[in-house]
Order: sequence, then structure tokens, then C-alpha cells
Amino acid sequence: MNPNRREYLLEILTTLYPPPHRLRLRSAASYPDHRPVASYRILPLPQRPQLLVPALPARATARILRYTVCPTSRLARLARAVAITGLTLPGATRLALPGRIDICGPPEADSFPRYLRHRLGRPVALAVHIGGPVRANRKPVVALLGDEGKPIGYAKLGVTPLTHQLINNERDALRILGTAQLRHVTVPQILHSGQWRGHNVLVQSALPVWRPRPLRSSAAIARAMVEVATVHGHHTGPLTGSGYAEALLTRLSALPADPDVTQLTHLTRRLLAHGHRTVLTYGAWHGDWTPWNTHPLPDGVLVWDWERFSLGVPLGLDAFHLFLAVRVSAGADLAQTVRECLARAPKLLAPFSVPPAAARLTCLLYLVDIGIRHLTDRALTGHSRHGEISAWLLPVLRYALNAEEEFV
Ligand SMILES: Nc1ncnc2c1ncn2[C@@H]1O[C@H](COP(=O)(O)OP(=O)(O)O)[C@@H](O)[C@H]1O
Ligand SMILES: [Mg+2]
Repeated sequence: MNPNRREYLLEILTTLYPPPHRLRLRSAASYPDHRPVASYRILPLPQRPQLLVPALPARATARILRYTVCPTSRLARLARAVAITGLTLPGATRLALPGRIDICGPPEADSFPRYLRHRLGRPVALAVHIGGPVRANRKPVVALLGDEGKPIGYAKLGVTPLTHQLINNERDALRILGTAQLRHVTVPQILHSGQWRGHNVLVQSALPVWRPRPLRSSAAIARAMVEVATVHGHHTGPLTGSGYAEALLTRLSALPADPDVTQLTHLTRRLLAHGHRTVLTYGAWHGDWTPWNTHPLPDGVLVWDWERFSLGVPLGLDAFHLFLAVRVSAGADLAQTVRECLARAPKLLAPFSVPPAAARLTCLLYLVDIGIRHLTDRALTGHSRHGEISAWLLPVLRYALNAEEEFV
């Protein structure tokens, strides 16, 4: 098994089952000499774990896979279908599910499932998402499995200052969204919010991500994004003096000094001066609208992961974020994609009724916003998703600003 993933897997399980629990990795062939309090299997392969599921027979595992893994590409959907079929074949438990981890300890010892049972009033089995590469916002996300392996909810635990903040932000976002009359977007409900052993805990209802997607979804996605943008009202005004311009500068000034921060601050001031008279409409954005945080259905879009939701931002930021996420996850060059995003800004913001000049300015503000996010994540955790912003964001921003200023 990849040592980093293995280490992370053990770290998550130790968080969920703290000492005196002990973890034992074993193959299914060996017989336990102890009574574990829980046993998990590692899917899809022990060498590359992505999901820990309760150690159940293969058919039950296939059901969990069907309901908790939500692939975004056709290839990944096919791989999941093959895995599910394989798990229903005779002998699958022994052949297809070799890796197993037992958790041993006294039955009365404190654990996260025990906490959940107490809070939710019923016992729940867990499936644990093991994230990919190290990310600033990495934290345990566990599916709470109901009957038939269908998730009834998802629980997140804050394990670092950043993930604490993000989980609190998601809780506040879900509270706002929970009172809105949404027609095109379905969001999770809060089932529980609390504290366990110093971790903040957010339990939300599970969205039915196993329902089939329609063939075409771009119009539904645009409607859903516009609905989110105006979910808490909207207002109009020039960039100068707007709460958004002030918020960008406040976030920048909170960052520890370094050359990237100095440059981004300089470029932000130039951008705010350049666009000072432009009138923008301000509303909300999801903050991380990507194919892997959303699932279109024929009657609307399921949207989760509201950790980065915020209010008082120019309309349309989610459209830029999705554009970049789709291209970059397909292997496109980041700097080149940022340039394309700028060139297409008027078209991308057409569903929000943003005029072309305001759309270009909004795109540049989006780049500043996301740049500040990268620097903030890096300052808090040492990680930033796409590496140094001096390599892909600052040069494009500088170039675009030069062009805009010349144009005026
Ligand atoms: N409410 C939910 N309904 C359905 N699936 C969810 C829900 N919350 C989380 N998930 C699943 O767990 C994964 C990780 O949760 P997410 O909120 O996206 O956190 P992260 O910040 O780690 O991306 C998601 O990609 C999705 O598969
Ligand atoms: Mg996510």
C-alpha cells in the first residue's frame, strides 16, 4: 500500500477510534485471535485505498459501493459497475476483498460511532472516505450507513484549525440554505452539529447521488448556480466602497508577509482602482462548485460540500470555478486555462445577466479571491492545492491587468 495513504488511513481510524483502541491490519485469510469492536475492508484495493467499508459479505459491500461512491467520469462509472458486478459473483468475498482492518478495544471505550449512536439515537455503521493526495482541507468524512448499505448521512470532523473553520462555515451555510425556497438545487439538511473530543462535528443528510444523471445538464447547472447566487438576496453598487472589495483587502492583510502576498496585494489594489466605478451585483457563491461536489438530476442539481460558501460576492464566481475545475481535472494547463476563462468570461456569466465588461472584471476578482484562498490555506497548513500561485495565477493576472489598463 502507498505509505502516505496507509499512514493517512491509520490516522483517520485512530481519530475515529482513539486509544485504548488498537488497529490491526490483516488479510481475510487469517483468523482473529481477539474480538474486534469493528472491522473494515479497504476498497477498491488495499494498495490504493479510497473507501473503508464495514467488513461484510461481498454482496453487502457491493450495495455500499453503489450508494456511496459517486464517480464523475464515464470511465470511473464503468469501473464502479465492474467492481459491483464482480462483488456479486460466487467466491467474491475471499477473492475480491482481501484487505481487512480490525479495531480492538474494550467495548465501553469512547469512539466516534459510539458518539454518533448517542447523538442520533441509533447505531450506525460507517464507511470512511480516504481522500486523494494531501490537501489543505483534508479531514475525516464518513458516510453513516442505514439499511441496505444506503447512507443516511455524512459526518465531517474538524481536525485542524482550517478544517474547524470550514466545517463551521458549512454549518452556517446549510442553515441559510435550509431556510431558502430552492427550486433548482437540493442541499443536505443538518442532522447534528456538536463537539467530540475537541473536534467539531457536522452531520448532514445524504443526498441521493446514486440516482442516474441526465444526458445533458448544462442548462440545469446554470439555473442551479443562479439560484444559489441569489439565495440570500442581492444588491448592486460600484466596486469601490463595496463590502467585497474591503473583504478582499482584509483577507490579504491577515496573511503573513511573503513575496506572493506582496505581489497579490499590489495586483489587487491595481484591480480595485481599475474597476472602481464598475457597478456589480453582489450575491452568494458555493465557493467550490465542481463536478465532484455536485450531481445533476432531471429535476435539479444535488449540491454538497458548502465549506467555502460566502455572501456579498460578485455574481458568477461559481461559473469560473467550475470552468477551471473541469478543464484542469482533465489535464489542461492551469495558466492556459485561466487565460481561456478570462476570454470566455462574458459567455460564462451570461446566465447571471452580467454585462461583458463587468464579467471580465468579475473574472479577475475571482482570480484574486482564489489566490487569497490558496495563500490562506498555505499559511494555515503548508499545503496549497495547485502549488505556488506565482507559477500560474500572478503572471496571468498581471498580464490581464496590463491589457485592461491599456484598453481604458
Ligand atoms: N451530504 C452528502 N450527500 C452525499 N454525499 C456526500 C455528502 N457529503 C459528503 N458526501 C460524499 O463525501 C465526499 C467528501 O465530502 P465533501 O463534503 O465533498 O468534503 P471534501 O471537502 O473532503 O471534498 C463527497 O465527495 C461525497 O462523495
Ligand atoms: Mg468535496
